Amino acid sequence: MSNPSHIAIIMDGNGRWAKARGLPRAAGHKAGLEALRDTIRAAGKMGIPFLTLFAFSSENWSRPRSEVSDLMGLLKLFIRRDLAELHRENVRVRIIGEREGLAKDIRGLLMEAETLTGRNTGLTLVIAFNYGSRNEITRAVQQLLADVSAGVITQADVTAEAISARLDTADIPDPDLIIRTSGEMRLSNFLLWQAAYSEFMFLPCYWPDFRSTHLAEAIETFHMRERRFGGVNQQEIAL
Ligand code: IPE
Ligand code: IPE
Ligand code: MG
Repeated sequence: MSNPSHIAIIMDGNGRWAKARGLPRAAGHKAGLEALRDTIRAAGKMGIPFLTLFAFSSENWSRPRSEVSDLMGLLKLFIRRDLAELHRENVRVRIIGEREGLAKDIRGLLMEAETLTGRNTGLTLVIAFNYGSRNEITRAVQQLLADVSAGVITQADVTAEAISARLDTADIPDPDLIIRTSGEMRLSNFLLWQAAYSEFMFLPCYWPDFRSTHLAEAIETFHMRERRFGGVNQQEIAL
């Protein structure tokens, strides 16, 4: 089987990583940033075309205000410090998630990252920020309804492809492999529509401990999986 074209990661366990060390949760998020940098570099080197990282969910606003502000601060730090290098490395940055509700300076930085790197041809780094699948699907449905009401399309045009094309991930292939760290086995509102035929891997390690070796191992395991997409494999047909 060929390498996955698109790997998506739910970066989870920063808080527990910090707690295990008697550190504040913020220290876990900061350490998580190093894992994120390492993973982007590794995916680029491995020639993975698309890497999606779940950085902040639409439900993460329910955390204490100080933690939300730490996470916003880290996003700003990441873009300010790393954008130039990502651009040099030919990385194309895409952001998915709801822009409304984000502070103006953050929106500006997200736009800057996408505009500066928009024509790059290396790794596409998709950052899911203020992202929730239900919100994304709801926005897509609202757009379709508006198009039907305006007479631009008819009800018959509301196909699975039409829905996919109106999601934030339009033009991005569905993830072949979804990895979640920290031992939790759930999607937490991540890529619900796009994950229809993804392979899942749940790793026990906390996100700040995730390194390129984990990524390489996950890809190795991916090669051993048999993907059927609802069909039967050729060997079974031959029997
Ligand atoms: C992942 O780590 C980071 C975000 C969700 C932003 P957590 O902060 O969820 O860490 P745990 O799950 O509490 O350990
Ligand atoms: C999912 O992790 C969101 C991100 C990794 C950004 P959470 O820690 O928010 O998910 P739950 O609350 O454990 O489901
Ligand atoms: Mg968590």
